[in-house]
Amino acid sequence: MQETNYQALSNEYQKLLNEAEAAMKNSYNPYSKFAVGSALLTEDDQIISGTNFENAAYGSTICSERAAILRANSMGYRKFKAIAIIARGEHDAVDVVSPCGACRQVIYEVSDLSEEPITVIMSNTHKDKIIIASINQLLPLGFGPKNLK
Ligand code: THU
Repeated sequence: MQETNYQALSNEYQKLLNEAEAAMKNSYNPYSKFAVGSALLTEDDQIISGTNFENAAYGSTICSERAAILRANSMGYRKFKAIAIIARGEHDAVDVVSPCGACRQVIYEVSDLSEEPITVIMSNTHKDKIIIASINQLLPLGFGPKNLK
């Protein structure tokens, strides 16, 4: 687990985070007013983003991370190297956004299908605080496809 900032990121991770930020601007969040954007880096270096989509029946809300993964799957991508996540509430978030438990589980699923554990890049709104961790650090001893073999 590593704490860093935007300037210190590789060009590739800077681009990934910028795409997550662009998706965040399309967030549909009339209930929480919390906008989240995610961007996946596929095994062949494509970037696929997603954003949260809320529902009047609150529990039917879809988080940005899962929106991105489902969009990528629909496009034929299921193997990823990294996911960047950024968020903004009614005010800019000073702390990094970290994926909810359900999203960690779904990231773990595709991580198990990927060559290496997925790297999760978690940013605050201003990108001056960023934490980079492996999904295995965020979900230790996770249950995935390999456990069913
Ligand atoms: N949310 C995400 O999209 N991803 C996260 O990692 C945390 C939470 C969304 C769900 C809901 O629309 C709003 O943020 C507040 O929980």
